[in-house]
Amino acid sequence: MKNRKVLAAIVAIAPASAWKLIVASYNAPSEPLGTVRLLDYQKNTGALNVVATSRDCGIMPTWLDLSSGGSTVTCVDEGVPGSLNLLNINANGSLSKLSSVTTLGGPVSSQFYDDSSAVGLAHYTPPAISSFSLQDNKFSPLQNFTFNSSGPTGPDPARQDSSHVHQALIDPTGEYLLFPDLGADVTHIYRIDANTGDLVVSAPLKAKPGYGPRHAAFWKPEGCSDETYLFIIHELTNRIISYSVTYLDNGDLSFAEVDEVGTFGDRDAPKGANAAEITVSPDNSFLVASNRLAPIFNITNPDPSNSTTIQSDSLVTFKPTAEGKLEFVELVPSGGLHPRHFSFNDDGSLIAVGHQFSGTVLVYARDVETGKIAGQIAFAKDLGPLT
Ligand SMILES: *[C@@H]1O[C@H](CO)[C@@H](O)[C@H](O)[C@H]1NC(C)=O
Ligand SMILES: *[C@@H]1O[C@H](CO)[C@@H](O)[C@H](O)[C@H]1NC(C)=O
Ligand SMILES: *[C@@H]1O[C@H](CO)[C@@H](O)[C@H](O)[C@H]1NC(C)=O
Ligand SMILES: *[C@@H]1O[C@H](CO)[C@@H](O)[C@H](O)[C@H]1NC(C)=O
Ligand SMILES: *[C@@H]1O[C@H](CO)[C@@H](O)[C@H](O)[C@H]1NC(C)=O
Repeated sequence: MKNRKVLAAIVAIAPASAWKLIVASYNAPSEPLGTVRLLDYQKNTGALNVVATSRDCGIMPTWLDLSSGGSTVTCVDEGVPGSLNLLNINANGSLSKLSSVTTLGGPVSSQFYDDSSAVGLAHYTPPAISSFSLQDNKFSPLQNFTFNSSGPTGPDPARQDSSHVHQALIDPTGEYLLFPDLGADVTHIYRIDANTGDLVVSAPLKAKPGYGPRHAAFWKPEGCSDETYLFIIHELTNRIISYSVTYLDNGDLSFAEVDEVGTFGDRDAPKGANAAEITVSPDNSFLVASNRLAPIFNITNPDPSNSTTIQSDSLVTFKPTAEGKLEFVELVPSGGLHPRHFSFNDDGSLIAVGHQFSGTVLVYARDVETGKIAGQIAFAKDLGPLT
């Protein structure tokens, strides 16, 4: 990516009354390493304090994944080469490194599979997919797939010069890993071989030219165990496409488009907007996505000690119908600039948003019945270099 990343990833732990967040940030230009920080929310004061800082995830900690019931966190470093790091969240709140392994360059997302005994990585640049086993808190290499190209892979010359694999995502059966590739307008699909655990190339899902698939989320409507939908967010066009997924007898998946919506809901996407994250809420009733580089809101400063109005990017919420169509619910300020990632608490009553360009994390209350994001609950600043 051209832009420096700050607050690349957030994971929320624990229930609404007493909770912690883990946030990652790239290194500042003056610092050799990035940071992984543990934030603790004090309900009585509303403070969100840094209680631990780790520099054990290389230069560019870009994606965090809680494992072992929340007692360890896996962190990928987007450096070239990259690294895959396992940190322990100690009982006293500190973070310590358990293990680390070198990976192909540019990993930006991880996904555990096979009962968390293996993990798949998406590598943005240089483009690749890799996998590792995890045993006794140690990663060992399983497979590497690289994507070579001798020219542009899509119509956007700046962003589609080659494949750029952006996310690793498991399907609801646990039998497939999907990898949206922003550069090549495709989602790569691998079947997890039930006997060997190997990733086996399966038929891909082609995106529309120039759309730039970035991230995706699966959804199964409540009480309809036969239906599976896949929602893909496209960074280059700020569009979400909903697909009905069919598991074919030959082992491939097939996808039928059922809806397409813009990430600004009832408005057009401003020029230059870059949609980022997409997640189904824990209540399973709503789809939430983030918009960057298009601050359409001016808001009261979320920092209570600062009265200057600030510009804000946005979060959009949709309600999927049982047929997989996406009904617009609301478009609201995210509370700062460049919301790369957001996370929910267990029941979806809180949403935490990391702002790469503001260096802040905001936590908002969320109504799980209406899907609406309401008042600010907590705020933390100075969490990364501002670039
Ligand atoms: C916290 O726990 C870790 C792991 O047990 C230990 O290494 C560290 O010294 C402890 N830190 C404090 C401040 O007690
Ligand atoms: C994949 O590449 C990494 C980094 O070069 C290397 O350490 C690892 O052994 C490779 N994995 C396999 C299965 O060859
Ligand atoms: C891509 O290039 C690498 C290094 O030259 C090679 O090992 C790999 O097999 C190539 N992959 C494909 C899919 O052609
Ligand atoms: C927000 O403030 C900026 C700078 O003051 C201004 O240019 C912009 O028009 C305002 N946007 C809205 C939606 O009010
Ligand atoms: C207050 O907020 C503005 C806008 O984000 C910022 O430029 C300014 O540095 C802040 N002031 C303080 C004292 O933090």
